Amino acid sequence: MADLDDIRDGDNFGLNTPADTTSFYLKGMNSMSWGIKNRMSRIFNRDSGRTVMLAFDHGFLMGPTSGLERIDLNIAPLAEEADCLMGCRGMIRTSIPADNTKPICLRTDSGTTILTEMNHNVLIAEEDAISMNASAMAAMLAIGDAATEASTIANFSRLVDLGNKYGIPVMGVTAVGKDMARDARYFGLASRVCAENGASIVKTYYTEGFENVVAACPVPVVIAGGKKLPELEALELAHNAIQCGAAGVDMGRNVFQSDKPLAMLRAVKEVVHNGAKPSEAIEIYHAG
Ligand code: R5P
Repeated sequence: MADLDDIRDGDNFGLNTPADTTSFYLKGMNSMSWGIKNRMSRIFNRDSGRTVMLAFDHGFLMGPTSGLERIDLNIAPLAEEADCLMGCRGMIRTSIPADNTKPICLRTDSGTTILTEMNHNVLIAEEDAISMNASAMAAMLAIGDAATEASTIANFSRLVDLGNKYGIPVMGVTAVGKDMARDARYFGLASRVCAENGASIVKTYYTEGFENVVAACPVPVVIAGGKKLPELEALELAHNAIQCGAAGVDMGRNVFQSDKPLAMLRAVKEVVHNGAKPSEAIEIYHAG
């Protein structure tokens, strides 16, 4: 107990230093909780405001696809070079060393595979995401899919409730139905639905007119890489997205299916964080 005879009046109120009321460095985050902001700060570089997430959640849909046969051999060695690791709990627990210090964006929905009708997903227990020290939770929304749109949006809304409760950002993953036009109108709608439902991050796909997709989405947007492209084309994709205002990438196959995954990851980082032109960044890939 403090000595009541020794209560000293404070005299260091910093009157010449106003309280910092400047905005948080990521768009749409000012009204989020301290926990969400803190975790977003682990994922998004403070200087660039961007991130290079390494996605390796593909196996929960398609099994040991090319480049992901052994997460311990294919992905774990890349972890230090990524800004964030995005995967499923089983593979992270078994194959990523627990002394990993990179933030985890945990795939928090689970469901059907490519062998049946996809997108009938449910959420895993939030306690498990918390136990894995997740810096973000990701769930898919099947916008435009008559069979699963409502259930995946309901999943997502529930996940945002949980994220808000525990201070964990939620990333909306826009799944593209086979009948959907892959254009700015569709991705703009899908991204906006994620944000309207409380996403802190939206993951979608680059398309012509992407600046409108980003502008209409009030939280950071990252792009998936999509199918494997020649490395220069993948760097051009990332560059175009950044030019349109994307806050980074959540890239999988164009990294782990590259002949030189580590060098490719470094090249993508150069584009995303330092604004390198694809023709400059490809030299990093070649040198790696
Ligand atoms: C899709 O649902 C998965 O979340 C993938 O992580 C995503 O498509 C990114 O991987 P890729 O760059 O290979 O498209």
